[in-house]
Amino acid sequence: MDNIAAAYNFADIIAEFNTGGGEFDINVFGSGHINDTFIIRSKARKGVDFLLQKINHFVFKDIDSLMNNMVYVTNHLKEKIAKIGHPEKEVLTLIKCNNGKYYYQDAQENYWRMTNFLHNTKSYDLVTNVKQAQQGGVAFGRFQNLLCDLHPDLLVSTIPDFLNIEKRLNDFNKAIKNNSVQRSASVMEEVGFLLSRADSMNEILQLGRAGVLPLRITHNDTKFNNILLDQADEIQCVIDLDTVMPGYVAYDFGDAIRSIINTAPEDEKNLDAIQLNIPLFEGFAKGYLSQTISFLTDAELKSLMMGVLLLPYMQAVRFLTDYLEGDVYYKTRFAEHNLQRTRAQIQLLKMLEMNKEKLSSIIQNEWLNLKNTLKTGTQMIAG
Ligand SMILES: Nc1ncnc2c1ncn2[C@@H]1O[C@H](COP(=O)(O)OP(=O)(O)O)[C@@H](O)[C@H]1O
Ligand SMILES: [Mg+2]
Repeated sequence: MDNIAAAYNFADIIAEFNTGGGEFDINVFGSGHINDTFIIRSKARKGVDFLLQKINHFVFKDIDSLMNNMVYVTNHLKEKIAKIGHPEKEVLTLIKCNNGKYYYQDAQENYWRMTNFLHNTKSYDLVTNVKQAQQGGVAFGRFQNLLCDLHPDLLVSTIPDFLNIEKRLNDFNKAIKNNSVQRSASVMEEVGFLLSRADSMNEILQLGRAGVLPLRITHNDTKFNNILLDQADEIQCVIDLDTVMPGYVAYDFGDAIRSIINTAPEDEKNLDAIQLNIPLFEGFAKGYLSQTISFLTDAELKSLMMGVLLLPYMQAVRFLTDYLEGDVYYKTRFAEHNLQRTRAQIQLLKMLEMNKEKLSSIIQNEWLNLKNTLKTGTQMIAG
């Protein structure tokens, strides 16, 4: 057993869940950064395997509400997918505990949950080709579509103000002023760049408050490794539902694009290496719109490009805030890591701003193509 796994009494923890009993092998699994994930393999030949997770209680304060969200969302998805597909493969299946809930709190105040393990699936940290990008778009677009008739008020914000740029900028301004580790003077250029865009980056929030953009249920962590693909690289299941809560569709679109479109890692030092991979953008947009065209409003369509700019911006603000506060939130591997990350996000944002017209017209054209295809299809049926 891995060292980290040896720290817990798994026999007792597993016994709290309705697994059907039997003996299991336990190993650390996956490359997630938030929760501790373990695969629980049945020793019986035809036994079912499970995925056990210790939920990160430092990041998520209200585990009861978080798990309630997850139950609402997975039940709703299963109900809808039952009519068109395979809910047991395409939606996470939560395993109930002896206490009647879907999580178990041990004596050390660790919170555990279990789902069925989905076999023959893959998750990738990086998108490497257009087909994958398109499948990513299909996955998160379909996810939003299937949940667009579930009322957002049913869900609790598992991290309040997670993507609230106003709150992030308040924290940023406080960090500049407090200057707790004497770094403010050395980053005036980056601070100036970010503050000069503070007003324009508030647009989604303002349109939301004015009722122009509807609040919906969104995933809010649309990294590519939060979907499982099948052996043919087709989307099978959206995972990592901890941050599913009320939000604006552009947040999911923008956050997915932030990692997919960047040709370099998030903390690239050589700024010239940060370029835009336009075909991957196109692939994601095409997949996403194919699933959302039926419900997205015109205002939401327009907001997608705002999300593409907002999410790297917000990430830069958060990295620089952490740098100014002495690197207390993000794990860093060297002294200036957060500053390097900030500069890389700023560079990405500059590239996106330079290519804004081009990217907007890709979204617009994909939208028109889809509308035309749908129209032709309807005419053929009518004819
Ligand atoms: N039900 C599942 N079946 C198979 N693999 C899974 C399942 N759930 C999660 N995984 C794998 O475990 C990894 C971590 O899970 P995730 O819920 O994303 O945790 P984190 O919040 O730490 O990112 C995923 O990237 C994926 O590879
Ligand atoms: Mg994850």
